[in-house]
Amino acid sequence: MIELAGRRFKDPIIVASGALPHVDGYIREVCKRYKPSAITLKTLTVKPLEPHRPPTLFKFGDGSYLNAIGLGNPGVGFINELDGIECPIIASVTGQTLSEILKAVESVDPKAYIIELNLSSPNRPGYGVARFKDSVNIVREAKSIATTPIFVKMPPIDPITEYAGRILDAGADGLTMINTLKGMIIDVEELKPILSYGTGGVSGKCIYPLAVRMIAEVYREYQPEIIGVGGVYTWRDAVGMIAAGAKLVGLCSVIIDRGPQIIKEIREGMRIYLERKGLRIESLIGMASMDT
Ligand SMILES: Cc1cc2nc3c(=O)[nH]c(=O)nc-3n(C[C@H](O)[C@H](O)[C@H](O)COP(=O)(O)O)c2cc1C
Repeated sequence: MIELAGRRFKDPIIVASGALPHVDGYIREVCKRYKPSAITLKTLTVKPLEPHRPPTLFKFGDGSYLNAIGLGNPGVGFINELDGIECPIIASVTGQTLSEILKAVESVDPKAYIIELNLSSPNRPGYGVARFKDSVNIVREAKSIATTPIFVKMPPIDPITEYAGRILDAGADGLTMINTLKGMIIDVEELKPILSYGTGGVSGKCIYPLAVRMIAEVYREYQPEIIGVGGVYTWRDAVGMIAAGAKLVGLCSVIIDRGPQIIKEIREGMRIYLERKGLRIESLIGMASMDT
């Protein structure tokens, strides 16, 4: 059992935002069959948003992606379609203004196990990372109205310890690290960007070392509650991220790539590893980031 911001989780493996579409039947099926410790919903906004037109997702190399879905979503009311689901729900929300974000927080507060403020998505003007500059104020205001723990989904920007410190000082209960990096790939036949939006968020295997380094730096400085996300494909990746300082590990690209069955495989690999090492999961957290 893992405790994070006063919430309990049966094991560290959760679904990260964006891995599952806003389809209640599918989310329920993933919960029932693969039993992730929690499911983070793809980001919701007060009013529905249309996704960008295709192509919105491009796979490159081995296990890496560029995506610009554009925060398309059916609106915050979607969370009510999951009433009665057994998996704890982490509700990711964003908006174009402070008041939109607060409205979204208020709407999901009664149903969410944790609220994750997405102040880091690079894929829609005015939303996500565009709001990061107001993060301190947004966190303070969100904390003043929410009864649910508030996490901030961090963009991968340096100096990460400074940004993280300000957000924790503002009262955030924890950090989800990291969101995608803004990137671009050119289609050399058409001689234009491969995604319709032009740029997209880089995710998957190629960002794993960046995510682990940022988690380790922030953990070493503050030992905050961290949900680690970024490039986790195997149980070894998950173990490494926890040893860097994450309490929970979110899977996104790997679920898109390999399907939700991977949740079970990673969980089982970790169980065997912990048994072989004679370690408890709680003692692994931050082990590799401690001063020696
Ligand atoms: C197709 C796709 C959609 C995503 N949508 C969201 C989203 O709506 N909100 C969010 O906070 N992050 C979103 N993300 C970012 C992921 O939650 C995660 O932070 C990032 O992909 C790094 O993890 P990964 O390498 O395991 O994919 C999305 C990622 C992908 C690939």
